[in-house]
Amino acid sequence: MPSSLRDTTTLHNGVKMPWFGLGVFKVKEGEEVVSSVKAAIKNGYISIDTAAVYKNEEGVGQAIKESGVAREELFITTKVWNADQGYDSTLQAFETSLGKLGLDYIDLYLIHWPVKGKYNDTWKALEKLYRDGRVRAIGVSNFHVHHLEDLLSHAEIKPMVNQIEYHPHLTQKEVHDFCKKEGIQLEAWSPLKQGVLLKDPTINEIAEKHNKSAAQIILRWDLQNEVVTIPKSTNENRIIENADIFDFELTPEEMQRINDLNKNDRIGSDPDNFNF
Ligand SMILES: NC(=O)c1ccc[n+]([C@@H]2O[C@H](COP(=O)([O-])OP(=O)(O)OC[C@H]3O[C@@H](n4cnc5c(N)ncnc54)[C@H](OP(=O)(O)O)[C@@H]3O)[C@@H](O)[C@H]2O)c1
Repeated sequence: MPSSLRDTTTLHNGVKMPWFGLGVFKVKEGEEVVSSVKAAIKNGYISIDTAAVYKNEEGVGQAIKESGVAREELFITTKVWNADQGYDSTLQAFETSLGKLGLDYIDLYLIHWPVKGKYNDTWKALEKLYRDGRVRAIGVSNFHVHHLEDLLSHAEIKPMVNQIEYHPHLTQKEVHDFCKKEGIQLEAWSPLKQGVLLKDPTINEIAEKHNKSAAQIILRWDLQNEVVTIPKSTNENRIIENADIFDFELTPEEMQRINDLNKNDRIGSDPDNFNF
């Protein structure tokens, strides 16, 4: 079990990825993203998850520079957006993201969504970026089992990560089991279901027992399920709170009670049916 914010899981290519990070979806470019990322790094976070479509890569890059922490101590993820998918356009989109972030390599580059008819070509571009040493790891996001099976039948390099919507209302057991079997690290987006889960009575009952918050219980549940997690907050107190999950353990019964909250309910789109 990870015992600190700096603890990592080893991806199938040997790269070490932190179990815990900060998400910056819907965080405004400029002051808001710069101060959130700086607050996170100041409080020990080493992993930041952004995407081209979040339109805040410049601010993330500025925060990294201003943080004073050495680049190689950090783990930076960004993603190629749907409109840029395809081989050449992905290579171009990568250069744009890298330039905005002001970095000379990315730790993890992901295909943001499985755009039909395109994601296999996009993957070829990611394989090239990986072979050229521009990215330390490559992966996908929002891939169901059938997307992964199709990708694997075309790919030369297996994705190292699949980042999916994952929280107590959406445990995606089939995808999780498949990724485990294939050595693909699962990563949770919207781990708090964007705040919806924080009022759940079962989670709050467990939280009271441990003298922790509902958010801390959910994020600890991610780690005990071996899922990388990247909660978003722009509030420094909540950034600190979310990461304070290394001093307690959920019992097997508590884990099961939280697993049992699953109702296959999404806050985002289904990867089989999205229109963006
Ligand atoms: N690959 C994809 O398609 C995809 C899709 C969605 C998200 N993501 C990634 O996953 C990250 C996390 O997901 P998310 O941002 O959608 O949602 P989330 O992390 O589940 O929830 C964020 C919301 O919860 C609030 N919050 C955070 N910590 C809290 C706490 N301790 N107590 C009370 N409220 C708290 C935040 O408000 P405050 O900011 O005010 O604290 C914010 O409104 C994203 O930022 C992004 O990096 C990826």
